[in-house]
Amino acid sequence: MKQIGNYLTIAIDGPAGSGKSTVARLVAEKLGLLYLDSGAMYRAVTVLAIQNEVETNIPKLIELVKTCHIEFKDNGKKILLNSDDVSVQIRTPEVNNLVADIAKVPEIRHEIVRHQRKIGEEGSIIAEGRDLTTIVFPCADFKFYLDASVKERAKRRFAELQTQNVDTTLESVEAEIRARDEKDMSREHSPLQAAKDAIHIDTTGKTIDEVVDLIVAKIGSRH
Ligand code: C5P
Repeated sequence: MKQIGNYLTIAIDGPAGSGKSTVARLVAEKLGLLYLDSGAMYRAVTVLAIQNEVETNIPKLIELVKTCHIEFKDNGKKILLNSDDVSVQIRTPEVNNLVADIAKVPEIRHEIVRHQRKIGEEGSIIAEGRDLTTIVFPCADFKFYLDASVKERAKRRFAELQTQNVDTTLESVEAEIRARDEKDMSREHSPLQAAKDAIHIDTTGKTIDEVVDLIVAKIGSRH
């Protein structure tokens, strides 16, 4: 991979369970890029809301977001909120159920997007989420849209949660994913949608390694 002058920016969007986080993390390792998990930032803001009991007091939450400090460590593996490691808290069912309602607030998105662009200015990056190819980095060097059937995405999430001993059922995970898809795709500001020039990859039936290789090959062939 040759990148002379400007930094390389790779953006990936897709719904929950499409495999984008795992894939982006591995591509980052292979190509030596900074990994940006944008969903983790909206999740951290949700933890901030819960901690301060302002889940429904949006003006107060906006104020807190403007002064909070969100930081990644270990190339995106850990996330700190005001210096506290909240990497575990951001994955709880409570946060899963609340995050899409917090992430739809335009003022909150504005602050988070500003932060994401700043991270993008600091080095070559692979960033994933819901609006990275459309809003945050519309001029990214490479854009991908990952998708998979709802059933497959629910199965993956369920398997992941089982390894973490989270007490849940496949049916409730599927219902949670459907509800989040609906909220993320139908919201007024920055809804989840594929950028016109994004490369679509249906990950149904594909292994993580196959998807990683596909992305690395696309980058290699056009770069
Ligand atoms: O990617 P992840 O599932 O962790 O994202 C959690 C939630 O954060 C999404 O369901 C969505 O509501 C919000 N999100 C967003 N924009 C992004 C990334 C995530 O609105 N770029």
